[in-house]
Amino acid sequence: MKKAIYPGSFDPVTNGHLDLIERASRVFDEVIVSVACNTEKTPLFSIEERVKMLQDACGHLDNVTVDYFKGLLVDYAKKHEAKAIIKGLRAVSDFEFELQMALMNKRLNNDIETMFIMTAAEYSFLSSSIVKELAIFGAELKGLVPEGVEKLLKEKLDISGQEA
Ligand code: PNS
Repeated sequence: MKKAIYPGSFDPVTNGHLDLIERASRVFDEVIVSVACNTEKTPLFSIEERVKMLQDACGHLDNVTVDYFKGLLVDYAKKHEAKAIIKGLRAVSDFEFELQMALMNKRLNNDIETMFIMTAAEYSFLSSSIVKELAIFGAELKGLVPEGVEKLLKEKLDISGQEA
């Protein structure tokens, strides 16, 4: 059974993440999408909200489950007997940091491989941060985030299209 972990902040999940999850689910027998609790970032959405958003977005994928984790990613992967960590690469700018993390994770646990999937060209400019900024300024998010996430963003940011 080839099992992989796809970790991230997912604050919120974007269509770029979802595309990656769908592609990973065709390569691996099981994919666990796991929301990291302890990043240095201050999230907009709670862990529970992000898990629910991902569950809704991944409902059509039978071999994908959604979870969250605290602590080291490699320890979490080992606990779940996953041999691979999936990461998305959008541009050269992602590479340096991702390489650093992949090498450190390899040093921490040599049995777990980090595997990179190139982000689809149409999502190469997309990030959770950009989505949040667009939402703050009331821009159209259709096609950028899974259905339902735009509404959740508006609710969270308390913007319902009203003029300031
Ligand atoms: O979506 P993000 O914020 O780029 O995800 C980064 C994440 C959560 C995958 C990374 O910060 C992580 O793996 N955190 C868990 C703690 C850990 O294992 N740190 C050592 C990595 S070298």
